[in-house]
Amino acid sequence: MIGADLKGKRVLITGASSGLGAHFASVMAEAGAVVGLAARRLDRLTANAAALGKSGIPIAMDVTDIASIQKGIGEFAEQSGGLPAILINNAGIADPSGVLAATPENTSAVMATNQTAAFTIAQYMSQSWVEAGQGGNIINIASITGMRAVGGAAAYAISKAAVIHMTKIMALELARHGIRVNAIAPGYFTTDMNKDFLNSPGGEALVKRIPMRRFGNLDDLNGALLLLASDAGRYMTGVVIPVDGGHLCSSL
Ligand SMILES: NC(=O)c1ccc[n+]([C@@H]2O[C@H](COP(=O)([O-])OP(=O)(O)OC[C@H]3O[C@@H](n4cnc5c(N)ncnc54)[C@H](OP(=O)(O)O)[C@@H]3O)[C@@H](O)[C@H]2O)c1
Repeated sequence: MIGADLKGKRVLITGASSGLGAHFASVMAEAGAVVGLAARRLDRLTANAAALGKSGIPIAMDVTDIASIQKGIGEFAEQSGGLPAILINNAGIADPSGVLAATPENTSAVMATNQTAAFTIAQYMSQSWVEAGQGGNIINIASITGMRAVGGAAAYAISKAAVIHMTKIMALELARHGIRVNAIAPGYFTTDMNKDFLNSPGGEALVKRIPMRRFGNLDDLNGALLLLASDAGRYMTGVVIPVDGGHLCSSL
């Protein structure tokens, strides 16, 4: 029986200083992995890594800077004994602006982090795996806003649609190199990114449109994460798994 055992696997998670990424780090460590927690806020990474004991390694990294990506991956490889086997491509930012209000600065920042940086680190990781003659596994964190039209988050939703298409393009091109590429599309989970909105009257209206009538708990993501990270999902590539309480099925 193939389970979700990740004993000794090296996993690099971007955006692991808070929210989903910090949670993914603890799930991976609990499954036996050695986890590199990457982001810009080193104080938070250090605390999150310390909570994982020997399984957590804090890695300072700005994903919008290729030199920082290369340095961070090098540091993780040095401290953990080799290249990560799994990349969880999770770092992201939001901009609560609709089409007419979005500024060029905020739109560029969202695209640079959510789309371009997600491509750059996945590309660099893949090049490193191919060069080393080994396979790999990429899990992109997309969003249901990349799958259905949503108002008031134009650049964000467009960037997440790009992540979903990127997942399929990479899956197609990299399968021959033993690299799987899949995505999780979360619905709404309360984190630093959205807590003000989800706790506002707008959030109260939103939750009524979720068939399960609640926002997600971080643990609701564990099943999809462990499936894609482990050999339990070894024949899966190019798929996008929504974890959203049925939100994508909400009534028209
Ligand atoms: N919460 C939700 O409901 C939800 C739903 C769907 C998808 N998502 C996606 O889940 C991912 C995590 O978001 P979250 O909700 O957990 O929000 P969060 O708590 O704000 O986490 C965002 C993470 O991204 C990191 N980050 C941002 N820019 C970065 C950069 N340039 N370089 C390195 N790290 C960077 C942040 O770390 P530093 O600031 O320390 O660098 C932080 O760790 C995002 O991709 C988001 O779009 C979230």
